[in-house]
Amino acid sequence: MSRSYLIGGAISAQQAEGGFNSHGFGDSVSDHMTALTDGKRYISKKILDKYHYPAHHGIRFFEHYEEDFKLFAELGLESFRLSISWAKLFPTGTEKSPSKEGLEFYHNILDQCVKYNIEPIVTICHNDMPMNLALEYGGWNSRELIDFYITYATCIFKEYKHKVKYWITFNELNGAMLEGIGMYLIGNFDQCDEVFDMHKIEDDPQIRLQSLHHMFLASAKAISLGREINKSFKFGSMFLGYVSYPETCKPEDQITALQNETVFLDYCADVMIGGEYSKVAKKYLERNNIRLDIEKNDLEELQKGTVDFYSFSYYSSTTTSYENKSDSVYGNLIVGGKNPHLKTTDWNWSMDPIGLEYFLLKTYSKYKIPMMVVENGLGAKDQVEESGEVNDNYRIEYIDSHLDAVNRAVEQGVEVISYTMWGVIDIVSASTGQMSKRYGVIYVDVDDDGNGNYKRKKKKSFEWYKNKISQSKQIY
Ligand code: BG6
Repeated sequence: MSRSYLIGGAISAQQAEGGFNSHGFGDSVSDHMTALTDGKRYISKKILDKYHYPAHHGIRFFEHYEEDFKLFAELGLESFRLSISWAKLFPTGTEKSPSKEGLEFYHNILDQCVKYNIEPIVTICHNDMPMNLALEYGGWNSRELIDFYITYATCIFKEYKHKVKYWITFNELNGAMLEGIGMYLIGNFDQCDEVFDMHKIEDDPQIRLQSLHHMFLASAKAISLGREINKSFKFGSMFLGYVSYPETCKPEDQITALQNETVFLDYCADVMIGGEYSKVAKKYLERNNIRLDIEKNDLEELQKGTVDFYSFSYYSSTTTSYENKSDSVYGNLIVGGKNPHLKTTDWNWSMDPIGLEYFLLKTYSKYKIPMMVVENGLGAKDQVEESGEVNDNYRIEYIDSHLDAVNRAVEQGVEVISYTMWGVIDIVSASTGQMSKRYGVIYVDVDDDGNGNYKRKKKKSFEWYKNKISQSKQIY
């Protein structure tokens, strides 16, 4: 069988690179996020000796990237989604010109993509920013961040314009619609103590939604300027893909599920794809007593800088009941009802490949722009056997069934540009900071406390993924 989309792998800077406190790099919010401590993931405003901060080392991709790219090439990856660390280029976020060493590092990474004929997909801002912008400016609540972001984005557009075609302006932007955790994603810790639980930040919807408006603007302006730098750039939105089935066929469950979706997904997608706040979005703001400060020209900017493709993460699905009765399951920042028809992962995320087909079909029918599945994978507790093997059949089953779902969607007419499995090489978990929540087909020898020799090893899924890619060669 041949295929019309690319198959690849994905990581983010802060979960993989390391390189903290070296080469004059600045520290990011992620550098202040602790490992799981008493079941909680804290953010400390200062770096404190008593905590372990997993992003300081990640998987030492900063040092190991050449060896890792050899493995990616052996796998036959056709696309590779990475993010750039804003603080590695602009340590405090406010500098006028970038760090030469930071620029060089990403040149080296992109050169590896060129060398092995792997299409890079670059996320400009993956849930992270220089810590200074969070502490001194209140993150995206400050309109000044738009200019800082534009300086950073236009710098990388000019620098890498011959090496990158696909850009994603923000990771999972609709995460900012979530109460509490949305405050972390916009980088506003103004009301937080010196050390606080990242999952328990007091919510302020006015700040969250105003910040989101600034992020929409930053994205739109960057896209307009990017197109002036290189006409063939393609820009994507990136959303946390969400499927929550009505728990029953009661009309009340249907309407609740639909209403949740209009807030969580459509609010953002309508702006980034349609170029304007929908009437439903405006009503939502009104109902919640949120007044956006929208300046002259803002709406025009949003109209001008719409995206070319819809990219999203998809891991699991939940159920919705208007009575909110059912057991909870998690799934990438989402908590919802447990679906009795689905199995769950070691981290209680439901596994639902049909949900991916459903999401692709539904979203493509609505927006009619090409889609990219930029994150999908299984976080599991892998065991290294005495023989040294990691027999991760569960991961093979997970990826295989989700690729089948993508293929079914494509057969039904959905245009898919690329599928990049999340954490193709083991990386630090974003929500828990654990290394033991492994996603990769490549194992990295490091534990939750950062102990290990960081050696890479192929899991059973490595050969399987390699064959899967080569046997279904992409035709473009
Ligand atoms: C997405 C993020 O939310 O989910 C990734 O974009 C993250 O950065 C992924 O790693 C999986 O979540 P986790 O918490 O299992 O790492």
